[in-house]
Amino acid sequence: MAKKTSKAKSPKAVSKKITRYTYENIKEPRTPETGHTSLLPSDEQVVTLPMDNGWSKALKLGQIVENERPVVVDMDPVVDPVLMWAGKRNKRDVPVLPLQRNEVVSESRIAQIIERARNAAADESGVARQGHLYADLEKSLRESERTKRVEFYTHDEGWKNKLICGDSLAAIESLLHYEQLRGKVQMVFMDPPYAIKYDSNFQQRVDSIRNDEQDKADDIVTIKAFRDTWSLGVHSYLSHLQERLYLIRDLLTETGSVFVQISDDNVHLVRNVLDEVFGASNFISLIPFRKKTMPFGTTFLEQMADFLLWYGKRKVSDQGTANTKFYPFFLPQDVEGEFHYSWYEMPDGTRHRMTPEQLSNHALLPPKARVYRLKSLEPSGPMDSGKFTYAFEGKDYPPPKNGYGTPPAGMDRLSDLKRLQPEGNRLTFIMYADESLFTRLTAPWIDTVGADDKRYVVQTNSEIVKRCMLMTTDPGDLVLDPTCGAGTTAAVAEAWGRRWITCDTSRVAINVARRYLLSKVFKAYKTRSGTVSSGFEYRRVKRITLSSLANNLEPSEIELRDKPTEDANSIRVAGPMELMTLGRYSVEDWKGYVVREGEAGGPAKLENYIEVISRLYRKDAAIQGATGLVHAVFEASTEKIAISVGPLSGRVTAKQINDAVQDALSTGILELHVLGWAFESNVGEIKSQLEKRGKVKIHLIMIRPDTLAEGLKATQPEMLFSPLALPDVDITLIKKNGDQSVTASLRGVAIFDRKTRGTDYKSAGSGYVAAWYLDEDYDGDCFVDYQMFFDFKKAPNLKATLKMDVDPEEFKLQTTSQPFPIRGYKRIAVKVVDIYGNESTVVKDLV
Ligand SMILES: C[S@@+](CC[C@H](N)C(=O)[O-])C[C@H]1O[C@@H](n2cnc3c(N)ncnc32)[C@H](O)[C@@H]1O
Repeated sequence: MAKKTSKAKSPKAVSKKITRYTYENIKEPRTPETGHTSLLPSDEQVVTLPMDNGWSKALKLGQIVENERPVVVDMDPVVDPVLMWAGKRNKRDVPVLPLQRNEVVSESRIAQIIERARNAAADESGVARQGHLYADLEKSLRESERTKRVEFYTHDEGWKNKLICGDSLAAIESLLHYEQLRGKVQMVFMDPPYAIKYDSNFQQRVDSIRNDEQDKADDIVTIKAFRDTWSLGVHSYLSHLQERLYLIRDLLTETGSVFVQISDDNVHLVRNVLDEVFGASNFISLIPFRKKTMPFGTTFLEQMADFLLWYGKRKVSDQGTANTKFYPFFLPQDVEGEFHYSWYEMPDGTRHRMTPEQLSNHALLPPKARVYRLKSLEPSGPMDSGKFTYAFEGKDYPPPKNGYGTPPAGMDRLSDLKRLQPEGNRLTFIMYADESLFTRLTAPWIDTVGADDKRYVVQTNSEIVKRCMLMTTDPGDLVLDPTCGAGTTAAVAEAWGRRWITCDTSRVAINVARRYLLSKVFKAYKTRSGTVSSGFEYRRVKRITLSSLANNLEPSEIELRDKPTEDANSIRVAGPMELMTLGRYSVEDWKGYVVREGEAGGPAKLENYIEVISRLYRKDAAIQGATGLVHAVFEASTEKIAISVGPLSGRVTAKQINDAVQDALSTGILELHVLGWAFESNVGEIKSQLEKRGKVKIHLIMIRPDTLAEGLKATQPEMLFSPLALPDVDITLIKKNGDQSVTASLRGVAIFDRKTRGTDYKSAGSGYVAAWYLDEDYDGDCFVDYQMFFDFKKAPNLKATLKMDVDPEEFKLQTTSQPFPIRGYKRIAVKVVDIYGNESTVVKDLV
C-alpha cells in the first residue's frame, strides 16, 4: 500500500508541514546515461511501425486473401471505408532515441524550496522575493496561508513527471521502448496543429503570445515539425497524425481513452484516421466545444466551436459491457430560461405556469416560488406492468404507448406525494429544480470559452482538458499530451493528482510550460486513505428520481469528481518532475537538408554529415572521417586546427572534448575547435581544466540552429557559427559567524541577434532573460533546480493566480540568488533561458 510520509530531515519545526503523498506499485524504468553520443541517430536503433490494420486491402477489394487478419484492430475493409491520401504508408521506420534526463526537480529539492519559501515568508522584515520561482507560494504563505501545510504528490518508486523537448513521434517511441510504458497510459490528450497556418501553431517568445516577424523562430526542429505537417499539405498532415496515433494506441491501457482536439477544417478527415487506427467501433463521442464568445465576423456562418474526438482503446469488453474507464461528469444545473422548467409552486401548494418574462428572469417570480418541470411518465422501452389506466383527481388517464414507468402502487405513491400533474390528456411527473441541482454533462459543450490565463498563442481552456481527464482517469493514473504547448494538460494533471508526461518540439513551449508548472500553487484535496491513488473524497449529492419516489427508496447519490473536499489546512506545489530531451535532429532532417539531389551514391551519411559541417566551417578542411574524434583538420599558413563535430541528435559531451583533445595532441595539433548543436552544461569547466594543463587551446563553437534550414539559409558560412557564449555569473562568498555561504549573481547572457547574426552580451536585467535556474551542488551530470528565478513582469497570469492586485515591479527578475552553503561537489551550475527559449549553462567552482 502506498503511504503518506512526512519529510522530517530539517531540524526546523516548519519542515513537519511538508507532506508528500505516495503512489503505489509504480516503478520507474531508467533511461541510459549519456557518455559519447553517436554522431547520427541512424547509428541507433530503428523500429518499424506497422500502420495497416486491414486498410491496404481496401485497395484490392475483391482480391482479399482468405484468413488474412488485420494487424491492429478488427477492421474489415469491405465494410469500413478508409481514407486514402497521398503518401499514405502502411509502415514506417521510427528512430529509437533514448530520452536524456538533463534536469531534475526532485522531491528533496522541492522540500527545501518549500522550507525556504516558508522561512522567507515568516521573515516579517524581509522583502518578498517575488522574482523567485515559488513567488506564488511565498506570497501565499506570507499573506494568508501562513499556517498551512505545503504538500506535493509523489510516489514510492521515485516516479517523476516528464516534460520532454522533442518530436512526439520519437518521444512516444522512446516511452514505449526505453521507459516501458506500453499499455500504461490511461488517457492521451492531443491538440495537434490544426493545419491552418504556421504562425498560429508556434509561439516565438517565452514572454509574449504575439508572434512578431522579427522574432520568427529559427529553430530547425520547429521548422521541421511545421514542414512535416505541410510539405504535402493536408496529406502529410494526415500521415503525421496517423503515425503518432498508431504509437499512442500502443501506449494506452486497455481501458484508456484518447482525445484529439481539432477544428472544423479537418475534423472529418481526422475522424477517419482515428476510425482506422482505433476502429470505428471504439469511437465514443464527437464533442463540439465553444472556443470563443465573440464572433470575428465571417462572410457566411461563423463556427464558434472546436471539436474533440474521443476514442476508447477498447470501448466494449468481450462480454459486451462498457470497458473504457468512464465517470460521468456533472454540471450545476441552471434552469433559468430553460423552457422545460416553466412551472412554479407556492408554499400554499398552488401551481402556476410562468410568464415568458418570468421564464427568462426568475427574479420576477413571487418570493418562495419553487420552480419545477413536468416530465413524462413513459419509460423509454415497453413496460407491460405499466399498461393500465390511472384515475387521478376524478379523471381516467390511459397509459402512454410504452405504459407508465411504475406499477399502480408506484403511481399511488407519486399521487400521495403530490408529484403528479395532468398536462392535456396525459399525466406527468413533477420534478423540482432544487432536487436536481446537477445535470449530467452531454455534448456539445456550449458553456466553455477561449483559453483562460493565456500564456501560449494556441492554448486550450483548461476546463476542456479537465473534463476529459476527470471523465476517464483516476488520481494516480498516467496521462500524456504529445502537444504540450503551454502545459495545460500537465497543469490539469498536477492539479488533479494524475501523473503526467508531455512533449513539444518547441523550446518556447517547453519553457512556458516549465515556468508555469513550477510556479503554480495548487489546491490540496483530502484523500480517501492518505494516498493519491486511493482517490479523493468527493462531494456527493442526492438524486431524487421518479423511481426513488415511486418505490419509496433512498435517493441515489452522485459523486461530483470535480468537487473533491478541499483540505483547508494545506496548499500544494507541483511534485517531482524531470526535463528531458530527445535527439533534437532526426535522420530525416539530415537526409532532407544535406544529402541533396544528385548526390546519390555519394559518401555514406555519416561521412557526409562530418564533411558538410566541417566544410561549412572551413571550406578547405581535410576530412579525417569518423574513426577518431578529430573529424577534420584545417591547415593554413598561420594556423592548424583540429575540428570535432558534435552529434546531430544530442549534446557535445565533456568526454567528446576530452577524447578529441587527446586525438589532436597525438597528431601534434594544439588547437581544437568543437562544433556542436548543443553542449552539455559542464563543457566550459572541461575546457578550462584541459587548457590549464597548458598545451592545448579549445574553442567551443555553436552551430546556429538554422544552419541547415531551407528558406533560412544564411548567405555567408561564417555567420552559421558563433562561439559558445556562456552566461556571465559572479560568485560572492559570505562569511558570517564562522559560517561560509555563497550567492550567485547573474550578470549577463549571450543573445543571438537574428538581424546582425552575431552574439551580443545583454545584461541580466535587460529583459532578454526569461528565467534562470541554479544548481547549488552540481554533480557534473544532471542539473538539479535548487533555486529558480523568473521574469514575471510580463507574465499575465500572476494576478489571476494570486487573486490579488500585484505591483508588476515587484515581480522583476531577481538577479542574485539566496545565500546557500557550499556543499559536497563544491561547484554550482547556472542555467539561463532567454526569451527565445534558448538555454545556456555555466559551471563554476566554489573553491
Ligand atoms: C495547438 S498547440 C497545443 C496547445 C496546448 N493544447 C495548450 O493548451 O497550450 C500544438 C503544439 O504542438 C507542438 N508540435 C507541433 N508538431 C509537433 C511534433 N511533431 N511533436 C511535438 N510537438 C509538436 C507545437 O509546438 C505546439 O506547441
